[in-house]
Amino acid sequence: MARILNKKKIVIFTGAGISAESGIKTFRDTNGLWNEYSVEDVATPQAWRKNPELVLEFYNERRQDIRHARPNAAHDAIARLEKEYEVIVVTQNIDNLHERAGSSNVIHVHGEITKARSTLDESLVYDIGYNSISPGDTCESKSQLRPHIVWFGEGIFHFDTARASIKDAARILVVGTSLSVFPAAGLLKKASFHAEKVIVSLDIDKKPYGYKFIRANASKMVPWVVEKWLNGERAV
Ligand code: APR
Repeated sequence: MARILNKKKIVIFTGAGISAESGIKTFRDTNGLWNEYSVEDVATPQAWRKNPELVLEFYNERRQDIRHARPNAAHDAIARLEKEYEVIVVTQNIDNLHERAGSSNVIHVHGEITKARSTLDESLVYDIGYNSISPGDTCESKSQLRPHIVWFGEGIFHFDTARASIKDAARILVVGTSLSVFPAAGLLKKASFHAEKVIVSLDIDKKPYGYKFIRANASKMVPWVVEKWLNGERAV
């Protein structure tokens, strides 16, 4: 039985590439973070057990980079879509540039840099803004605080909500992701065959079936796609 699509629903799925032109490093591009740091040293539960100070320092530095960055034309265009559509942004990014551009429904499947979490009780999550987390900073249950960010080997957040959003969306726009990390990238195959599906990126690992790939800078191409959709036209 064909799924009923919600003509007014758009899902935007983003990765580090949408924030690249805001000056925030991606992970796997030539000057990416995983060329500067090893994932095993700063983004796994083992790294946290071995050297929590290094992990805290890595994310404290990311938090300052994000503090000094600004949303770019791609973030701004996505926020404008809310004038005419129900827009859900499913982002792999831990930055807050979508929110600062005005998007009001953002799902962070890999966590958020502006939040800290108890290492004893994961339901204890605190807004810390751009403040650093230091060794000895504890939650109300006196256990060390950690970044509220998904490390490799940990489960992602809000997967079911993100999957439900994608299933009946009439339009899907994927921006600035290598699609190399699962299960997040696997969400895209939950889209309907009949939905309009566009990917704007400079490069991707493997193009999911049914998506149109446009090799372009996000800040140039995302506003173009958004204008088409605001005019009620197809982009591809
Ligand atoms: N415009 C559009 N796309 C761009 C731009 C740009 N200006 N700059 C880079 N890109 C593209 C690259 O071509 C690449 O496909 O953005 C993508 C960045 O890929 P990654 O660095 O792998 O980032 P991402 O896909 O978000 O990584 C997913 O991996 O390390 C984990 O948790 C981390 O959320 C991250 C996840």
